[in-house]
Amino acid sequence: MKALVLAGGSGIRLRPFTHSMPKQLFPIANRPVLFYGLEAIGAAGVHDVGVVVGDHAEAIRQAVGDGASFGLKITYIRQDLPLGLAHCVAIARDFLADEDFVMYLGDNVIGDGVEPIVSAFGRTRPAARVMLGKVGDPRRFGVAEVGPDGRVLRLAEKPAVPRSDLAMIGAYVFSPAVHEAIAAIEPSERGEREITDALSWLVAHDHVVEAHVSSGYWQDTGTFAGVLDCNRAMLDAITPAVLGSVDDASELIGPVVVEENATVSRSRVIGPAVIGSGATVSESRIGPYTSIGAKCTVDRSVVENSIILGGSSLHGIPGMRDSLIGRDADVRRAETPGSCSLILGDHSSVAPAV
Ligand code: G1P
Repeated sequence: MKALVLAGGSGIRLRPFTHSMPKQLFPIANRPVLFYGLEAIGAAGVHDVGVVVGDHAEAIRQAVGDGASFGLKITYIRQDLPLGLAHCVAIARDFLADEDFVMYLGDNVIGDGVEPIVSAFGRTRPAARVMLGKVGDPRRFGVAEVGPDGRVLRLAEKPAVPRSDLAMIGAYVFSPAVHEAIAAIEPSERGEREITDALSWLVAHDHVVEAHVSSGYWQDTGTFAGVLDCNRAMLDAITPAVLGSVDDASELIGPVVVEENATVSRSRVIGPAVIGSGATVSESRIGPYTSIGAKCTVDRSVVENSIILGGSSLHGIPGMRDSLIGRDADVRRAETPGSCSLILGDHSSVAPAV
């Protein structure tokens, strides 16, 4: 069994961040979202991993390297244009050879990991097994209709009128039969070769496609709402640790991680929260559900349910919540009460993220 992790795509919904970084490296509880997927693959006993990368290939290579730190052997596969999930499989054909493989969307976090779907696939060895989860609005996803025997009967990509509430949630296991299907399909209306169409082709040609319904946590971090939700879920699972320094005038309440060389003084940190390495927090209230990135400075501020990326500073901000602040940003309270001076990059937003 091999793995194929998809880490390309343009990340339009996460602009302006994705102008300068791939969405798969967006930090969730101070770790790139892609790391959760790579760890899940290793934990399933799969070590030979192809990572499909697009425009931000170099940043991903720098963060992940050869995969040794995850116990993986990584091969990078370049996708020049984001032409769809099935296109990713097509360009990985040489890497995949004729082996079964688990495909994982690199901006998705699956709480239960992929070990259950990989094991179940191994027991029956169908043409494909797709992970499904119940969602509130299936029209935003690939949707499957499942028979009483657990087989997928029909699939549709982002249907206007969904036939079920079971969405495809970012992990699939395929036998090499999928390659024939991918060769047979045409691009969709959005101009992409859809994996959903390849699965439909398999079903239509009497191949067995099994449903793997998961009731565990799942999130697609391709939107701001998804990012903040995932940050909350991953922070809920942190193990408290203080590696940096916290002065006597500060209080840590609930699960808090203070990473190495971070300094917390005259502050309250309400967990779950993480203070990144080398960050300085003073006279502030942080959390709950807040990630402060490495080397940030937070001073006389209140920050809740937010993610502050590395190197940024907040000074005198009295009530920041539900916010995402990029790298090396500087946010200060205006000198004149009631006024506000903004310098915002392309596609920025000062409206609520959720
Ligand atoms: C893709 C798939 C869709 C799946 C979704 C999960 O959609 O095409 O079937 O349900 O990922 O996140 P996209 O994120 O490309 O719109």
